[in-house]
Amino acid sequence: MPYYHSLGDIPHKRHTVFKQKNGKGFYQEHLVGSYGFSGPQSLLYRVYPPTEVIDIKKIRPVSLQGNPADSLRMRHFRLAALPDSESQTLSRSPVLFNSDLSISFCQTDKSDDFFYRNAQADEMIFVSSGSGVLESEYGNLPFRSGDHIIIHRSITYRLNLKEYCQFLIVESNDLLRPPDRYMNGDGQFLENSPYCERDIRIPSELMTNDDRGEYRVVVKRDNFLHEVLMAHHPFDVVGWDGCYYPWIFNIEDFEPITGRVHQPPPVHQTFAAAGFVTCAFVPRLFDYHPDAIPAPYNHSNVMSDEVLYYANDEFMSRKGIEYGSLTHHPFGLPHGPQPGKMEQSIGAKSTNELAVMIDTFKPLLVPAEIMDVEDKDYGKSWLLNDE
Ligand SMILES: [Fe+2]
Repeated sequence: MPYYHSLGDIPHKRHTVFKQKNGKGFYQEHLVGSYGFSGPQSLLYRVYPPTEVIDIKKIRPVSLQGNPADSLRMRHFRLAALPDSESQTLSRSPVLFNSDLSISFCQTDKSDDFFYRNAQADEMIFVSSGSGVLESEYGNLPFRSGDHIIIHRSITYRLNLKEYCQFLIVESNDLLRPPDRYMNGDGQFLENSPYCERDIRIPSELMTNDDRGEYRVVVKRDNFLHEVLMAHHPFDVVGWDGCYYPWIFNIEDFEPITGRVHQPPPVHQTFAAAGFVTCAFVPRLFDYHPDAIPAPYNHSNVMSDEVLYYANDEFMSRKGIEYGSLTHHPFGLPHGPQPGKMEQSIGAKSTNELAVMIDTFKPLLVPAEIMDVEDKDYGKSWLLNDE
């Protein structure tokens, strides 16, 4: 996040002597910064040097393969029908990808017994159901259904699951952030932004662990998983400050922007990154012009693939979807409401829809693994005689 936060003990001046409370030496200063010392950064103070690596082992490549010849059709995947994952980091089911991002899904009640660091991407983990605690070097942060958990690149973390959880995960090559147009030049959310600082949750409970031993950190870099064996617990931080930390925004805190007539998708935007945007469709009142058509018009968004994940089974312009569905509408084909949905929406006063949209500016590819849960008839559901 672009704004400053501080937690735990830090010295008054950066890069100065900071003696350990037990008199045994100095705390270790650790700068975590993005974009070559010019992007958001934080300074962490550790009991031990973060460089104490015992060994690094190769695990396996994470290679995604898709077929461009099979990318021009409307798709619907029933993600909730996927098998349970053994690990929420190592066995995510890939759904769609391009060179800017990948989208995956996982459902499990198992917490990892190792730590995880995605060194190649920021992660947005949308909690479709379930709850737990995001544990990281920056402290603990409880999460619940509807949360977007934002974990910036190279933050070491573990999700401690309290119950069965379902996650839609976006891995972004670029820094994930609120759209620039929501903020003033000084980094504060504007009055017309659909969310603001009060809606963002930041780690507030630092759990300093100074245990020594062998601790496994799985690191993803250049589409390859490695196991880094550390000589101490990775959460040995006594204090930190700065603008680079994990944070959470819940979809229920998104204040919908409505109008007399249909509002375009940018009013639903939550986050931005190079190559894509994300949006939240939340329960809201419909358009209030007496002749308004609440359902969207047919449209060709000529530069965007549209991905929608449905966190409940209601969506005003779609039929045949259910909780856990994900649809992909590639550019090259116009899309719009299915037969009857436009007429049905006229006169409706409100909607309970809950969905996360990801619009990408490059075409998405579909890995073969996900086709087992594809609804192959979806592309024909716009035919007027498909009733
Ligand atoms: Fe669309």
